Amino acid sequence: MKIIIDQVEHQVEGKPTILEAAARVGVEIPHFCYHPGLSISGNCRMCLVEAGTPKMGPNGPELDADGKPVIMWMPKPITSCSTPASEGMVVRTHKTSKVIEDAQKGVLEFILINHPLDCPICDQAGECPLQENTFKYGPEGSRFEFEKNHKPKRVELGPNVVFDAERCINCTRCVRFCDEVAKAPQLTVIERGDHNYIATFPGKELDNPYSMNVIDICPVGALTSKHFRFKARVWEMSETDSVCTGCARGCNTKTWVKNNEILRVTPRENPQVNQWWMCDEGRLNIKWMNENRVSGPHRVASGSRTSLTWEDARTSLSAAISANAAKTAVVVSPYATLEDSFAAIQTFRQAGVTRFARYRHEKGSDDHLLIRADKTPNQTALDLLEPLAGTYLSPAQLASAIESGDIATLVVIEENPFANGLTAAHRSKLSQVISFSYNWDETASVADLVFPAAVVAETSGTFINAQGIAQRVKPSKTVTHQNRTLMRETGLSRWDKHAWKHDKWAKPVNVVDAKPTWEILSGLNGEPVFQSPDAILKMASGLIPSLKGLSHGTMGTTGVKIQTGEVIKS
Ligand code: SF4
Ligand code: SF4
Ligand code: FES
Repeated sequence: MKIIIDQVEHQVEGKPTILEAAARVGVEIPHFCYHPGLSISGNCRMCLVEAGTPKMGPNGPELDADGKPVIMWMPKPITSCSTPASEGMVVRTHKTSKVIEDAQKGVLEFILINHPLDCPICDQAGECPLQENTFKYGPEGSRFEFEKNHKPKRVELGPNVVFDAERCINCTRCVRFCDEVAKAPQLTVIERGDHNYIATFPGKELDNPYSMNVIDICPVGALTSKHFRFKARVWEMSETDSVCTGCARGCNTKTWVKNNEILRVTPRENPQVNQWWMCDEGRLNIKWMNENRVSGPHRVASGSRTSLTWEDARTSLSAAISANAAKTAVVVSPYATLEDSFAAIQTFRQAGVTRFARYRHEKGSDDHLLIRADKTPNQTALDLLEPLAGTYLSPAQLASAIESGDIATLVVIEENPFANGLTAAHRSKLSQVISFSYNWDETASVADLVFPAAVVAETSGTFINAQGIAQRVKPSKTVTHQNRTLMRETGLSRWDKHAWKHDKWAKPVNVVDAKPTWEILSGLNGEPVFQSPDAILKMASGLIPSLKGLSHGTMGTTGVKIQTGEVIKS
């Protein structure tokens, strides 16, 4: 349909509202209560526009003396979020209408009357639509000289969300999210007029698997994360596109890092995978990437750990495998990137290993929205790599091969079999355990040789979710042998971009001496040599038909469906 916004004619498809049509053609209409993933509420009045439609006569639109359609203007400004665009509609936004400019100033003045304006101590500052809209469209000062309304502060709505009622602008996004998306109607609006705010029902909590999404969609700092609040200002953190590895959905995320520590993970829009949302469990699944990390290769004997150089550790690994490839099994991992698993399978096959095992980690069942029973991100990649590895041993087959003495050396790649069925008795049957581990977990603790494996936040690679969508992760934190500012793909915070080496945020703290598995294994036996994750993916796509044509470039930011090669559009 044709729509004219601020005197410019545009064509839009489908049946959008005025606000959606404007967004599609790049015209910003400020708003608070509208969210593309929720029903229309139309309560904040920030999205006002003037609009009119062509006056229709018996022979179509009536024309004026200049031959232009006569426009029937609506008598008052209307909310663009709730008004459908229609053929020939003419719209005036704040850019061309003084009425709208004044209306937006008025709306903001009303919203701010009782707002605490505590931006300097508010987590939302720096990413706050109220702050931004006030800066762009608001009045220059306040005319309100009276005591503001006071409402509850620091209310723990549930295990993960803290509420400040004075900051709430009653947009009801959080209420609608709980009702419509989480299907857990745990919030409502209470009180009246300028005293109203949101609350849980008496004696109940905001406690559902998706509760923390309300923090992201709250257009002010009224809802904050119990786990993240006051840890950093937004501009101190870098944000890097990533993918959640908490289950087989592979929700698209942003990883937020300050001083090389992951402080929060937030969802990134991908209509095919997670829309705008992610679950709380995935969001809070960051501790293992920050704490208890293996740093540098280690030899472990009788519970004591000795550091090794990378070269000595690689020499020991190579010697261990070549001495006994026939009695070696390699556990590959559905937590690892496709590139790491491919590198492991190719390297150990080349060394004469023929047995590869894999574990599955399932809990509960798939839910109505995102959560999958498969708690691993990359089983699909292991399925695709199976022809190269030979049929994987199941955990039971692996255990019985160890019990019978058929396997003497166990190499574990980014897995934890000693927390998943293997016992001290199995350990005593094995002459050697070599583990590529993120943390000092049950397997690393009983291994003879431990390599520190880079976690998903320290590497670049591919995960293929349960829908068959291949998605990329990028490094968001650095490891010892990488210079963060030289890492092309790592996000930089506003501080990172402008810091110099003596600034405190530029100090190399929280840096782990870890490497991606492919880098540890590259050239272990002379061949194969792995140059980069993208080069490995090219090697894999040459051998596996479903991966044909797949590269880090083709995956873009939102992934590619591997069966069809169809690019997933955002
Ligand atoms: S919600 Fe936004 S405007 Fe209000 S105090 Fe926080 S940053 Fe400032
Ligand atoms: S808490 Fe936030 S999302 Fe909920 S109604 Fe208030 S302003 Fe809107
Ligand atoms: S965005 Fe339209 S009324 Fe709030």
